[in-house]
Amino acid sequence: MTFTIRGLAAIGALVAIGAPALAQTEIKIGYALAPDSHYGVAAQKFEEVLLAETGDQFSFTHFPSSGLGGEREVIEGLQLGTVEATIVSSGTLANFVPETGVFDIPFLFRDLDHARAVLDGPIGQEILARFDDVGLHGLAWGEQGFRHITNNRNAIETPADVEGLKIRTMENPVHLAAFNAMGAAPTPMAWPEVISSLQQGVIDGQENPLSVIVSVKLDEVQKYLTLSGHVYSPAMLLVSRPFWEGLSDDQKAAFEKAAAEAVTAMRGFVDDVETTGVATLKERGMQVNALSPEEKAKFQAAIASAYEGYYETYGQELVDSIVNFQ
Ligand code: PAF
Repeated sequence: MTFTIRGLAAIGALVAIGAPALAQTEIKIGYALAPDSHYGVAAQKFEEVLLAETGDQFSFTHFPSSGLGGEREVIEGLQLGTVEATIVSSGTLANFVPETGVFDIPFLFRDLDHARAVLDGPIGQEILARFDDVGLHGLAWGEQGFRHITNNRNAIETPADVEGLKIRTMENPVHLAAFNAMGAAPTPMAWPEVISSLQQGVIDGQENPLSVIVSVKLDEVQKYLTLSGHVYSPAMLLVSRPFWEGLSDDQKAAFEKAAAEAVTAMRGFVDDVETTGVATLKERGMQVNALSPEEKAKFQAAIASAYEGYYETYGQELVDSIVNFQ
């Protein structure tokens, strides 16, 4: 091939202004919460580290605040290859990899450290790897914190206080079974419908971790917050399997590094909000009560019948090995 002087000058000018030699691959990343939430912070960190590792090979477009729809729809988009990445709760994950439901069992984890150790350890990683069988690739487990109950009907101290409470649950059979066993009237619902349903009084309450309650200002539509900590809420950083398969080994390594740093940022954010969130919500006018260990034990006893179902579905050996994990 021959180059004219003018052609060489033009190439030189492009190099001088740093124009990319190749088109960038766009990563559309969707998540349910705002840019300043634990999801937003993790997505930003993911972008920052990935771009630092790979130069200008990728560009990011963020779709926060359910901009691509509910979590289930976004995950289906990943399977189809129309969306590249997402950060989601475990709400609908069991519809894709049923085994993930084991982590949604109430009163399974002692504290955040216990949950993180299990998810990062062999049990969590084995379940994460199963996403490859369903058109997805699980990069890492993240988290939201422990879920608590908010509602507009009454303060909750005993299982009798949730009797007949119209409470929104995630579209998650494990959570549904627990609230049914407690005697509540649970309504599974996709997240984008929750705020308007609370405003219209279609439901009395919902349950989510402090990270979510603070971020979406649930205090504007809910009066009572009960620090029940009834269940840990994992999250996951997922990419589309068709997209993942198109990456080189070096790119895959960069994605893994970026995901690990994103999770560290997400967990750090959750640690902060677990410390400051209650004071923030009290200042904003919520009436807050914390369940004592004795009160919690009554809720645990109230869902004993649901535990029989969990053992049947997941095997008592697996549940016990998570409970006893050190
Ligand atoms: O309650 C839920 O559905 C989830 O916790 C949320 C708020 C969508 C975050 O993933």
